Amino acid sequence: MQVSQYFARDLFRDRTVFVTGGGSGINLGIARNFAALGANIALCGRTQERLDAAAEELRALGAKACPVAADVRDYAALEAAFARSRAELGPMDVLVCGAAGNFLVPAEKLSANGFKTVVDIDLLGSFNASRAAFAQLKETKGVLIYISAGMAYMPHAYQVHVGAAKAGIDMMMRNLALEWGGYGIRVNSIVPGPIEGTEGMKRLASPEAKQAIIDAVPLRRMGTVDDIGQTAVFLASPLASYISGCVVVCDGGANLAGSGQFNAGAERMLQKMAMQATRS
Ligand code: HXC
Ligand code: NAP
Repeated sequence: MQVSQYFARDLFRDRTVFVTGGGSGINLGIARNFAALGANIALCGRTQERLDAAAEELRALGAKACPVAADVRDYAALEAAFARSRAELGPMDVLVCGAAGNFLVPAEKLSANGFKTVVDIDLLGSFNASRAAFAQLKETKGVLIYISAGMAYMPHAYQVHVGAAKAGIDMMMRNLALEWGGYGIRVNSIVPGPIEGTEGMKRLASPEAKQAIIDAVPLRRMGTVDDIGQTAVFLASPLASYISGCVVVCDGGANLAGSGQFNAGAERMLQKMAMQATRS
């Protein structure tokens, strides 16, 4: 992997990285980048088979892996997962909070429970993980990384639930950076841009919109899961030892043009979904 051409291959040897939502997509990409630099990886999500498959991939990169099913909305389940990861891999040096849920929906059609569900997974789930990991992170003077989104600081159509949840995450990040800095814990967020081949893109943009998305990115490409993995590895490395309380945007400059292209694409996607629903 590219990361091991630029960073020492043993940078995270004997270190433990826990990734919530680590069984797929961007979060698994982050786990792979840490594994390529010697880290051992624990993962949680709701689906044990998905986590087991991810763990196999990570073992192939040389990592010890601990895949343990836990819903981030369930504090006791997270405590149990963290205790198991500690018993198998040692205390946690890095926690990546990436578990999230998303769907496109106009605000006037979103139920109270739909809004609550996304806030529960993204925001409460990230607090639950941070709080349950605190003792281990204090012990290791560890690093906490949240996976946020552009919706946190720029309104996007049909994303009121996600915007509220991710903005909450970024404010929580700043609060914890302030409070936990005294324990030597650094806390930051990463905002990925449009990342190719992910569940998030599948849910928010139709395949026909791909070229328009690329055209709207100043660097003229979609991001890869490795772009985000590399950012996470840097933020957890000693090279970032004075960086805390930051939102690091890794999006090829996509935010500079605003959310207009996203909003138009989301509108078309909702229309297409409505037509498909009428037909079936
Ligand atoms: C409107 C919806 C909905 C939809 C669910 N709900 N899907 N409302 N439109 N498409 C409502 C339901 O009707 C229900 O409310 C409430 O949400 C809870 O639904 P459940 O299905 O019971 O929830 P749950 O099983 O907990 O599943 C959570 C989920 C699901 C978020 C709804 O989609 C999921 O598990 N997602 C995980 C994977 C994922 O989303 N990955 C993408 C992350 S990408 P009622 O009122 O009926 O009870 C991402 C990208 C960010 O975050 C930015 C990209 C640029
Ligand atoms: P993804 O593959 O669906 O990742 C989400 C992961 O979270 C899944 O592995 C899912 O596994 C897990 N998860 C969902 N609900 C959970 C819960 N209640 N408890 C524990 N785990 C749960 O989607 P992705 O697109 O790669 O997104 C990953 C992260 O990047 C998210 O935080 C997302 O908001 C952010 N992001 C993505 C993009 C993008 O372009 N894709 C852009 C900006 C930000 P289970 O379903 O098995 O639980």
